[in-house]
This record gives sequence, structure tokens and C-alpha cells, in this order.
Amino acid sequence: MKIEVFFSPAGVDELNMRGRNVVIIDVLRASTTICTALRNGAREIIPVPDIENATKISANLSSDSRLLGGERQGKRIDGFDLGNSPLEYTPERVHNKTIIFTTTNGAGAMYKCRYAALALVGTFVNVSSIVKMIKEVGGTWTILCSGRQGAFSVEDATCAGMIISSVQQTIDVETDDAGMTAVILYRNYKRSILGMLKKAEHGKYLASIGFDEDLKFCAEVDSVPVIPVSDGVALRLKPSPAELREKSSKQISD
Ligand code: MLT
Repeated sequence: MKIEVFFSPAGVDELNMRGRNVVIIDVLRASTTICTALRNGAREIIPVPDIENATKISANLSSDSRLLGGERQGKRIDGFDLGNSPLEYTPERVHNKTIIFTTTNGAGAMYKCRYAALALVGTFVNVSSIVKMIKEVGGTWTILCSGRQGAFSVEDATCAGMIISSVQQTIDVETDDAGMTAVILYRNYKRSILGMLKKAEHGKYLASIGFDEDLKFCAEVDSVPVIPVSDGVALRLKPSPAELREKSSKQISD
């Protein structure tokens, strides 16, 4: 199989991503927050690149079923219900809610993948679930790193390297120069993902504004083993085989 890597969404648009199988990574913190919100019972997450449209979408939904979440400069946006710390997305806050979600880098990268054939959200907390799905589906995959303000970020590239390296344990993977570099980064940092996050530019920034605990949470490999899948508008959990079986048995008896 083939896996290619984009280190940032700069220069990538909806048409480049159209029809591809994509994993979008934003380790700090959008991908981690989305996994956590869905694991804690959120009904769906709608990623939106800008605050104005997020607010408009939210105004069209019933106020008891939706929440506005996201950040600018890492901090909660004025008037929003939630920021972008995964620790805020507790079952009590998010159960059964539609979350309209706008962040500086991650939400925009996800929005650019709305015409993808299959778009998944990946990060360290769900890495093995993503690897399993890539192996099941096979074929050609693109990993889109959200990066930082259009530039490279070491945490997203290292996570991309972890995905490629894990798939390579059982399947031959052809990758590009970016993918090869990502694997080298992962080999370098695999003994301390948290150490790498603490040294990363965005990790240092988040710690400086009081989010040190988020770094620990985002470094916990496989602690939130879910697969957020996009339908082009919203991200929802991939149904479990048991849920799929139940759905299909209902169809037969209907
Ligand atoms: C983003 O999408 O830019 C981030 O997730 C930033 C953050 O850490 O809140």
C-alpha cells in the first residue's frame, strides 16, 4: 500500500483532497479534543474554519442541543461555550450535543477534506485504531498534518511517522520523502512522546498559557481508542461492528 504525507495544509485545497482516503492530524489539540468529545458522548462535531460561520451555524440549531467550541491563540473564543482543551469536553458537558468547532489550524485542515472519499481524525490517543482502519481499507492513503500557521509542526509529523511505522510492521508501505522523514522523527522521539510535546513550539506555547495538563493528555498513546469519521459535514464515531450488525438486522426485519 501507499501512504503520502503533507506536513501542512498550506497549498492544499478541497480539490487536492477530493476522492482521497485521508487522516487529518492535529495532535495539539484539535484531533485529541475531537476524539475525547466523541468518546464522551458528543453526537457530532462540525469543523468550521472561521468564527463567523461557526456562529451562524450554531444560531440555526436548537440551543439545548448544540455547543460552540474552539480557540484562537489557544484560548476560548469570546461567547463560546468551550475552548479547545480536551479536558473541558467531559461527558457532563458534551453528552448528546452537536459541537460546532473552530480552531486555528486543525478545523481548517478538516474542512479542506470535506470531499475526501474517507476522512478520519487521528492523533496519539487513537493511533492504533487509525492504523487498524488503514490496514483494513488498504489502498492509497494521505496523511494531512495540520501544522502551525501553515508551517511544519514536529508533533503532527511525529504522529504521521508513528502511523506509517505501525502499518509497516505488517504491510509493505511505499511512502514519499515527507513520509520517510516522519518515520525518522518518530524513531527519534518514540521513547518520550511527552518530552517531544514539551519541546515543540506549540507545546511550549500551550504550557506558557497554563495548559501543561493538556500536553500530558495528548501524549497518552491509545488512551481514547475511537475513530472519528467525516461524512463531509460532521465527524461522528465509526459505528462498532456490534452497532453495524444491529442496524443491518433491523433493516431485514423492517
Ligand atoms: C489548532 O487547531 O490550531 C489547535 O488545535 C490549537 C490549539 O492548541 O488549541
